[in-house]
Amino acid sequence: MDYNEKLDAAIARLHDEGRYRTFIDIERRNGQFPHAVWTKPDGSQQDITVWCGNDYLGMGQNPVVIEAMEEALRATGAGSGGTRNISGTTVYHKQLEAELADLHGKEAALLFTSAYIANDATLSTLPKLFPGLIIYSDALNHASMIEGVRRNGGAKRIFRHNDLGHLRELMEADDPAAPKLIAFESIYSMDGDFGPIEEICDLADEFGALTYIDEVHAVGMYGPRGAGVAERDRLMHRLDIINGTLAKAYGVMGGYIAASAKMCDAVRSYAPGFIFTTSLPPAIAAGAADAARSARPAIRPLAVLRSLAAGATRLTRAALTAGLPAAALPARGVHRPVASHVGGLEGEIPPVVARATLLSGIALQPLMPRRPF
Ligand SMILES: Cc1ncc(COP(=O)(O)O)c(C=O)c1O
Repeated sequence: MDYNEKLDAAIARLHDEGRYRTFIDIERRNGQFPHAVWTKPDGSQQDITVWCGNDYLGMGQNPVVIEAMEEALRATGAGSGGTRNISGTTVYHKQLEAELADLHGKEAALLFTSAYIANDATLSTLPKLFPGLIIYSDALNHASMIEGVRRNGGAKRIFRHNDLGHLRELMEADDPAAPKLIAFESIYSMDGDFGPIEEICDLADEFGALTYIDEVHAVGMYGPRGAGVAERDRLMHRLDIINGTLAKAYGVMGGYIAASAKMCDAVRSYAPGFIFTTSLPPAIAAGAADAARSARPAIRPLAVLRSLAAGATRLTRAALTAGLPAAALPARGVHRPVASHVGGLEGEIPPVVARATLLSGIALQPLMPRRPF
């Protein structure tokens, strides 16, 4: 077989479908959030403003976070030195897990190397714990949840996005005695809308199902302590498993689930994605713990939030003026957590528009169409 020819064909397919991804070389400058320097393919550089970052609050450049990371780095060195079960569990990991459990009002939390892995590892492991489990998954769930559900070997049902009637219909059609789990998000970043948390919890109660929520875009942004939308709506106690990231509002890296001690113990023991990989460096865990504390809305600077909200509104207006598809922001400010995918733009930005915008100093990232589930 001519392997190179196959690779050429695979890449050509993406070009033909307009789905070939290009990355731009961006270097953030500490203390200048959200400004950065773009190194162009010819090696020249240009100052730009990053409008499509995950570091919603600039926590990745927060002096408190950096100091915590530096301290841990000097104290313990660069890496953790092992997987969680073989010398890779440190006091930093334990402290961060305790902090996250407390944040979400749960007995325990489990750290993973990213929220992607946390979703994938947990959702693919649950059928081992609950034989016969049926997972009801929102059609617009993130790729990491899709992967976890897809390869877990269990039964899955996909309900239309936020469609409670469809979810009910699917649940009614299944064996009442079968174990069930509803997997959904609190904020769908690509579409900028919220999941109906309370109504989903009501359905879960009615059908005896577990609930699994991805609060990746909401932790650090919503709720009195920044635990997410479920905290804001006083619903955390009704959710069995809460997934979050340390890489967005907390500006560092890593992901987690928070749940009962028993659930975390079982996932910890059965999920290959937790056990068979080197744990996060202690410095990351130390920085993330400080970021989680600093990002509590009660103490984070109001000015940052105001400027984020104003920026998202300005960008949406500019997009609409330029004839780009843009979702109108609701009257009360930032609906989605500020420009994960360019504050309010819906769907894809044609690559040519992204490039023209970049040349004028604003970094946007075109999004690829969703894959079918
Ligand atoms: C809804 C959702 N869940 C999970 C993730 C994965 O988060 P992480 O970057 O920590 O892997 C993302 C990333 O964008 C996301 O949007």
